[in-house]
Amino acid sequence: MGEAPTATLALPPFARLRRTRRHAGLRGLARETHVASSTLVQPLFVQEGLSGRTPIPSMPGIDRLGLDALAAEAQDLQRADLGAVMLFGIPAGKDAQGSAARDPDGIVPRAIQRVRDAAPGLPVIADTCLCAYTDHGHCGILRRGAVHNDATLALLAQAAVAQAQAGADIVAPSAMMDGQVLAIRAGLDAAGFQETPIMAYSAKYASAFYGPFRDAAASGPVAGDRRGHQMDPANVREAMREIECDIAEGSDMVLVKPALPCLDVIREARDRFDVPVGAYQVSGEYAMVKAAAEKGWIDERRVVAESLLAIRRAGADFTITYHAKRFAQLGDGQP
Ligand code: PBG
Repeated sequence: MGEAPTATLALPPFARLRRTRRHAGLRGLARETHVASSTLVQPLFVQEGLSGRTPIPSMPGIDRLGLDALAAEAQDLQRADLGAVMLFGIPAGKDAQGSAARDPDGIVPRAIQRVRDAAPGLPVIADTCLCAYTDHGHCGILRRGAVHNDATLALLAQAAVAQAQAGADIVAPSAMMDGQVLAIRAGLDAAGFQETPIMAYSAKYASAFYGPFRDAAASGPVAGDRRGHQMDPANVREAMREIECDIAEGSDMVLVKPALPCLDVIREARDRFDVPVGAYQVSGEYAMVKAAAEKGWIDERRVVAESLLAIRRAGADFTITYHAKRFAQLGDGQP
């Protein structure tokens, strides 16, 4: 049997977009978006009183760290040329006011100092919230069973000052209280930290993708949820108002969170505002990739690279992601 005859059609000229995809070299030249390790931020969980590290079951590859393990981890991350670390604390004790969050000797201030000493070139971002410090697990203090916005502001400002005092390069308020950026800016300035930038979690949605984080940081609400202060996932115009307010209050950088479910929000923020825009690829986004990869259903390295690229393409200047270290060490798999 000979070759099947090839039909040829007489067509007018058409664009041959495949020409620049023919091999890796050509694809490299045509590539529009790149993810540099220096734009990635690794979140770290540091637990008071822990020695060594304990795995977090719902986040394979991520551990809660004691202070010594944190120092070693920070050195690794500095070597990997990561953009920064973001610190979350798990305190030994909690109370209704979340007092441990503003203790200058608390777990996060001590962790900041340890990272500073171990890896002086690695920027440290401190998450500023009360949820891991309150015994009820809400992001602010309660009055008549509800999170009281204004009574929470001073406590957040004090927490931010304790973090700045310890040497945080950036404080990142995530409590979604109205006016929190203004209160923190005023608190930092009054304490002499005019130079400490604020990275506001401005567009933070009430997302089911935060599930594994709440195990990791033991920060879930004991009763109720966060829909009364975090944003409705249905809204994007409101996200722009949040960002606008935070910039007006003095935020130097803004975050959109979660990341992949919010690519449109990232794009809109990038187009409208000129401050650095970051995206937070959250614990549930991470856990889904890890779970599918463990089952052999997806190629983890390629899925991670593709998702980080998508977030960047949507307009994020930097991305906070639990994949940061591994991505920095393995690369994106592109030749
Ligand atoms: C603290 C905070 C949360 C996350 C970051 N900061 C939890 C929450 O709001 O419930 C989530 C991060 C993640 O899921 O990876 N308020």
